[in-house]
Amino acid sequence: MSTATVCSVNHLANDPQAEERIASLKRSLGEKLFILGHHYQRDDVIRFADARGDSFKLSQLAARQDRAEYIVFCGVHFMAESADILSQPHQKVILPDLAAGCSMADMADIDQVEECWQFLEDQDVRGVVPITYMNSTAAIKAFCGEKGGAVCTSSNAPAVFKWAYQRGQTVLFLPDQHLGRNTGFKMGIPIDRMALWDPHHEDGNVPLEKLKISPLILWKGHCSVHGRFRPEDVDTVRAKFPAIRVIVHPECLWEVVQKADSVGSTEHIIKAVSQSDPGTQWAVGTEIHLVNRLAKENPDKLIITLDNHGCLCTTMFRIAPKHVLWALENLSEGRVVNQIKVDDSVKYWAQVALDRMLAIA
Ligand code: 13P
Ligand code: SF4
Repeated sequence: MSTATVCSVNHLANDPQAEERIASLKRSLGEKLFILGHHYQRDDVIRFADARGDSFKLSQLAARQDRAEYIVFCGVHFMAESADILSQPHQKVILPDLAAGCSMADMADIDQVEECWQFLEDQDVRGVVPITYMNSTAAIKAFCGEKGGAVCTSSNAPAVFKWAYQRGQTVLFLPDQHLGRNTGFKMGIPIDRMALWDPHHEDGNVPLEKLKISPLILWKGHCSVHGRFRPEDVDTVRAKFPAIRVIVHPECLWEVVQKADSVGSTEHIIKAVSQSDPGTQWAVGTEIHLVNRLAKENPDKLIITLDNHGCLCTTMFRIAPKHVLWALENLSEGRVVNQIKVDDSVKYWAQVALDRMLAIA
């Protein structure tokens, strides 16, 4: 983003009329505009979303929303990239703050993935199907598409794994070791049969014999937000509230997931909590804005964060009303700012990988 652009956003920083102006610009842009919002967005942003969801639902919405000329994506970079791949050529996807990335997605780059693949081929590790979590770059999605693999999200990982094992004997899963481990374990793969590939070592820092017999090779990446929940947090909260139900996102450590009552995507968490009986107590292991919103929307239940402090996704938090306002003001004057445009050389195979996921789930 240019300095000039930053300045123009900043002059809107504490605009007391921001809410009203966003609402009025939305009205005047009408059907030309569709705002998508991920569940981790702050309240003062998500309130402007025309639809909200987990990453799977948002990708479905982007694929189906073929009318609006502008899709403003209140979420993070990999989500906006996927929306650009799945939307129609006449649509433009806008990320209100280009600095809204994902530290997990940054833990795998395409060169490292290609090196890993080459190593597996050189060592004669056969029948490998690459599956990437949605939280990855478009280039990695394209790599998976071209090599016969697919994308998955936290809501369809078991189905995509099942699909992959019908095509090969080994899954290379990236970049989230925890979602991969939790999914593989749920499918009956013992923990000690999984290999952990460290991209900072030429040989992944895995003994070759292990690599050759592992049905699941996990990339050594993680989410720093969900990684903060510890198994002891579950013990502490259960000691304090004996009737409490613990629900966590599958990006949490395997040890945390083993102690939880329920595990699933943000959409799963919202459904399970909202549909539970009045008086139910929940400790929720996911991003703090979602937990706080659930507590507000379900005053008949006790809803608390699983740890003491609440885990914040600082990159999701970057999108503020001032960025949405700035993007809409520019659109209303015919200027498209912060467009996310995936390179054509990557788009084809990335779409193949995403389409496979949409067809499986
Ligand atoms: P969901 O697909 O469950 O919304 O998760 C996205 C994400 O980034 C969680 O950290
Ligand atoms: Fe990425 Fe973790 Fe934030 Fe999700 S919560 S967007 S995985 S950093």
